[in-house]
Amino acid sequence: MTADVVSQGSLRIRRATAADADALSEIGARTFFETFAADNTPEDMKLFLESTWSPELQRAEILDEGLDTLLACDASGAIAGFAQLRVNHPPEGIVVRAPVELKRFYVDKPWHGQGVARLLMEAAERAARARGAREFWLGVWERNERAQAFYRKCGFRKVGKQIFVVGTDPQTDDVMLREFE
Ligand SMILES: CC(C)(COP(=O)(O)OP(=O)(O)OC[C@H]1O[C@@H](n2cnc3c(N)ncnc32)[C@H](O)[C@@H]1OP(=O)(O)O)[C@@H](O)C(=O)NCCC(=O)NCCS
Repeated sequence: MTADVVSQGSLRIRRATAADADALSEIGARTFFETFAADNTPEDMKLFLESTWSPELQRAEILDEGLDTLLACDASGAIAGFAQLRVNHPPEGIVVRAPVELKRFYVDKPWHGQGVARLLMEAAERAARARGAREFWLGVWERNERAQAFYRKCGFRKVGKQIFVVGTDPQTDDVMLREFE
């Protein structure tokens, strides 16, 4: 795949490099906080953010051969959203053919409802197909209505449940699946 996966208008989607680790860490932690802080204790949020969104961890994940990290960048080069795909990680207890997990899918709040997510999803599908995938799967918090509505628009359907731990709190995610053909 070329470095530029998709571009539309002033948005450009490209693969992350190690140089993006700080910026990815910042938008990842901030978007997670903005989306979920109201539903979690400050202690659980702190534990989760520190264990997941450090620049060191993001750098390692960007360089990880088993992950694809795609960034949607605006005209100034700032990250408007990102997708992280994980291979070799099928959903538990669900029959799949050749899955790729959509591990993270975040758009910065000012860009919600403006088509960034759709463009990012197209690029993510292209990257997943390049990995040989025949379907996408993901976990989304059962109370994250906006994300679920977006995924349904993209053709995902609910196929199960899984536990996702935020800090010390085990929460229930819906597992969603979308076949490519
Ligand atoms: C999930 C996300 C990527 C979707 O991108 P987006 O630009 O907001 O998506 P869209 O606006 O195209 O689609 C969202 C849909 O949900 C609808 N919606 C908004 N708030 C809603 C709510 N509270 N309940 C139900 N639907 C809602 C919108 O109206 C829209 O539907 P429409 O296009 O038919 O009007 C983005 O909201 C995001 O990054 N959220 C924060 C991080 C997150 O939750 N990531 C997903 C983790 S699994």
